[in-house]
Amino acid sequence: MDTAEIRRRFLAHFEAAGHTVVPSAPLLLDDPNLLFVNAGMVPFKPYFLGQETAPYDRATSVQKCVRTLDIEEVGKTTRHGTFFQMNGNFSFGDYFKEGAITHAWELITTSVADGGLGFDPEDIWVTVLHSDTEARELWKKIAGLPDERIQNRGLLDNYWHMGVEGPGGPCSEIYVDRGAQYGPDGGPEADEDRFLEIWNLVFMQEEITHVRAKDVFDVVAPLPQQNIDTGMGLERVAYLLQGKENMYEIDEVFPVIAKAAELSGKRYGADPADDVRFRVVADHVRSGLMLIGDGVTPGNESRGYVLRRLLRRAVRSMRLLGYDAPALPELLPVSLDKMKASYPELATDFARISQVAYTEEDAFRSTLAKGTQVFDLAAGAAKEAGRSVLAGEQAFQLHDTYGFPIDLTLEMAAEQGLSVDEEGFRGLMAEQRARAKADAKAKKGSHADTSLYRETLDTHGPTDWQAYTTLSTESRVLALYAHGTAVPASSQGSIAEVVLDRTPFYAESGGQNADAGTLSWDGGRAEVLDVQRPVRGLVVHQVRILDGELTLDTVLSADVDRDWRVGAAQAHSGTHVVHAALREVLGPTALQSGSYNRPGYLRLDFGWNGALSPEQLRDVEEASNRALREDLAVSAAVMPLAKAREIGALALFGETYGEDVRVVEIGGPWSRELCGGTHVQRSSQIGTVVVTSDASVGAGNRRVEALVGLEGFQYLARERDLVLQLTDLLKTKPDDVPHRVSDLMSRLKATEKELEKFKSAQLLGAAGDLAKGARDIGGIALVTHRAEGVGGGDVRQMALDIRGRLSDRPAVVVVIGTAGDKPSVVVAATAAAQERGVAANQLIGVIGEKIGGRGGGKADVAQGGGTDLGAIDAAFAAVEAAL
Ligand code: ALA
Repeated sequence: MDTAEIRRRFLAHFEAAGHTVVPSAPLLLDDPNLLFVNAGMVPFKPYFLGQETAPYDRATSVQKCVRTLDIEEVGKTTRHGTFFQMNGNFSFGDYFKEGAITHAWELITTSVADGGLGFDPEDIWVTVLHSDTEARELWKKIAGLPDERIQNRGLLDNYWHMGVEGPGGPCSEIYVDRGAQYGPDGGPEADEDRFLEIWNLVFMQEEITHVRAKDVFDVVAPLPQQNIDTGMGLERVAYLLQGKENMYEIDEVFPVIAKAAELSGKRYGADPADDVRFRVVADHVRSGLMLIGDGVTPGNESRGYVLRRLLRRAVRSMRLLGYDAPALPELLPVSLDKMKASYPELATDFARISQVAYTEEDAFRSTLAKGTQVFDLAAGAAKEAGRSVLAGEQAFQLHDTYGFPIDLTLEMAAEQGLSVDEEGFRGLMAEQRARAKADAKAKKGSHADTSLYRETLDTHGPTDWQAYTTLSTESRVLALYAHGTAVPASSQGSIAEVVLDRTPFYAESGGQNADAGTLSWDGGRAEVLDVQRPVRGLVVHQVRILDGELTLDTVLSADVDRDWRVGAAQAHSGTHVVHAALREVLGPTALQSGSYNRPGYLRLDFGWNGALSPEQLRDVEEASNRALREDLAVSAAVMPLAKAREIGALALFGETYGEDVRVVEIGGPWSRELCGGTHVQRSSQIGTVVVTSDASVGAGNRRVEALVGLEGFQYLARERDLVLQLTDLLKTKPDDVPHRVSDLMSRLKATEKELEKFKSAQLLGAAGDLAKGARDIGGIALVTHRAEGVGGGDVRQMALDIRGRLSDRPAVVVVIGTAGDKPSVVVAATAAAQERGVAANQLIGVIGEKIGGRGGGKADVAQGGGTDLGAIDAAFAAVEAAL
């Protein structure tokens, strides 16, 4: 049965049982605790926790998931994939254990002909939490399972939670016996390869926190309702129903293996080591496709780093299979071909997706070339020193600087008969990880512990948020915090966090900075410093009390600074305009990957390789300003996500699925983005857009910065002032400034040349006097001269010139110039001096010893340099002594 058919049957089964079919959420959700969505329940978390009311009692989905804890295990077992799809059914306070078990049992044991999955009931085993006798009895009653095929297990196996704070509960897992050829008897307790888990039914009933280990955590409280969360591994069921040995051989994945075999000339199934490589390639190529599809770009941190690792491991596995040419252009389209049936947006977006992937492969290939050189050097040095182990530090450097996976270093070392200090390497890796973790924690700052906010949210409900409709509200103080605890009052001069029943303040999100403004009440006033939403639904204002005292229950006036908001709206709308202009000029691959804006200023990161040319930048600026001049209407509409997709709205990170989304348009289809920000009403209100810079922010990503509104004007005005100063100085018209400056520069150059000439003429003029001053040393005329500030060619010319004036007798000339604070020496001897045994190249050695340098030449002329200006007199004395 095709994977697509299994997915279809699953959804149809639950739809028929009254479940709303919810499309998969993107792999990235706005949850600071999760790198990627890693279970079907993630998008529904607020419903389980009771933070939001579910719009349906029952739902079903096939959710894209990525788990990357054990990347190194991929391909070695039959069932670990970094990307997989989780079929799930969910009940929000509707049915509980009995319903979940009934629905699951029906689907897996109904015959294929009757629309089920057709597993033999005799092959099914289940596990339950040891204390959960209720679940055991239900399995006996509903499925008729005998006691021996219901195994009790502990918290480690049969309690499910997210690995971080959130909802959790006892679970019951369903296993399929693959047969005696796969392992010993004894059920899942005995062997999890023979008995393969296909479905986990979670009886979600508690909120947990402080997860120290899978089975060590604290229970906060029972959830407001009893819920069901289930997860069936689509790939696992597919490989069982397709009669395959593992998840890499199913219809959605195997074609990549086949292509890799064709490219490499190796056969899948011939060599266990190669087979692991084939599976790594197939798994990682697909994960790469899905991650880039959802907006991840390769980078050196968090999500970007995971993607980078996956792509690099795929490329490198192809090399180990003996295929050295660019591999992704061959493999990615094969994966696309299999995945687009379920995810059509991959096909429409493939130009961008493939560009991101291919660029990363190119970058890795050049890295690999450089790293291989470094490796060869290290390996050579180790061998030369008689060592057979490569230091952990070297392996770490290769990993850190050149992106070499450790197994690459291991393999390359093994090829050279070396081993690697893996323990040392892992130690350094652990240190680095600890640093990264500490950084991440520091970044999250004071909102790392959200329990206080949750309590407030539970007590008072979500903030009535009026940022779209008004700039001032009459509000009541519901909660006050200082230094992480609730306080009844806050006095003049102190900083506090304030929760109001309603607020007009925009909380920082979607790249838009928080609003500024004031809170004022009878007898006091506070300045709003920051506004955040640390938990969904709750707006928290950070304020400084300027006058008076702020107490709980105070009724106050919350006022957003008007100018600030106008500036913020200009900057945010400006960001959309620049984004649309970039795509107009560069094409659709220039997709935004991040942005930040505050009044007057915006920056936008987007996928692109190489610097923009001055023409491209000018075109972007012009397209932006044209959109301003056209006075396009700006509108915001709330609609279902599917509808937004259909009209081509650009979605970035972290939009929650299953909900309505807000689409902001500028000029209809010209700019259409999912966005929660505040905007101007017409594009002309942005005033002006001035692009001020374009720079790289990592491989395949660039950043443009721009000024808008009055700031844009002021920037241009400053430039005009500069031009005015220049025209004043140069006594010319603005248009003539470049010409005048270039003219001045060539004249300056010519003058400098002229000056040089005069200088050497002067030097040469001195030669006559110096020759006259020659001293007689045992019948040889000696001239020694220290030429201040003279260098290279001039020193030589001077020495030769003096020698020329003494050519009729035995004479030696030594000139030492001091240009650049370093002695440079020329020694010249006349023919008559050479006849008497004097050699200039010998004397230069004598001098070199003194001034800390050396030189060379012939008997007639020799030259050299040194380091010690203080030893020049000693050098002269040494020459005299030598003569
Ligand atoms: N949330 C459960 C899991 O991921 C179903 O296994």
